[in-house]
Amino acid sequence: MKLTYYGHSCFLLEVADKKVLFDPFITPNELAKDIDVDSIECDYILVSHGHEDHLADLVRIGKRTGATVVSNYEIVNWAAKQGLDKGHPMNTGGTWNFDFGRVRLCNAVHSSSFPDGSYAGLAGGFVIEAEAGTLYYAGDTALTTDMRLLTQQHNIDYALLPIGDNFTMGIDDAIQASNYINCGNVVGMHYDTFPPIKINHHEARGKFAAAGATLHLMEIGSSMPLFEQEHDEELRMGGVVQELVSEAQDAVNGEVKPAAEDKAEQ
Ligand code: NI
Ligand code: MN
Repeated sequence: MKLTYYGHSCFLLEVADKKVLFDPFITPNELAKDIDVDSIECDYILVSHGHEDHLADLVRIGKRTGATVVSNYEIVNWAAKQGLDKGHPMNTGGTWNFDFGRVRLCNAVHSSSFPDGSYAGLAGGFVIEAEAGTLYYAGDTALTTDMRLLTQQHNIDYALLPIGDNFTMGIDDAIQASNYINCGNVVGMHYDTFPPIKINHHEARGKFAAAGATLHLMEIGSSMPLFEQEHDEELRMGGVVQELVSEAQDAVNGEVKPAAEDKAEQ
């Protein structure tokens, strides 16, 4: 399995020779301006809810690739009206066996409407149970004890959790969520794109590490293999090296903070 990040909550998961794209929002995202939206290939597009920052590029990518749209009933119908005739509608709590793995459309605590304000069904998340392992894509959500239920149904290996706060969970709640789902391997999403969801990467990684979990903050455009323990180790080391480099740069720029203040921040 391989995961590629296209910014905000948009990821491409390569699993069982299929390409599964989540929540395409690329062209309106200034941070993702180097991504060529017209070169992304995918077989499926999974959409968590109807908000613009999760489906802005759905029609454009869906039309070009002919990918199957997997989402709730309302969003799949809406996509069909935009000309995306391949869709698989689901609803909260349901599961379905696709050729890449079994998908559960799970609960998210969030609102959902289309860009024109019309009803887009309930916001959701996805659990992908593939042969190589299980991945939870939380979508936009608050922390909810419903997440605990997922551990009775799945052994989650990787969790993609929103961490930007304001519109979704923030860091502290995401750490609690990783406890609820019993998964310490977290990939952050829904952060930095807009001013109210900008986060301090160093502090966020530190808080997760203090809780015994790993927070991956992927560079936009980068990929990481999943289910390869050694590589995870490298990534962790890479993260430490990156932090040391950025601290050294801060020091060169005379922006180093007194140790006490740094501690207080964490
Ligand atoms: Ni949303
Ligand atoms: Mn959102």
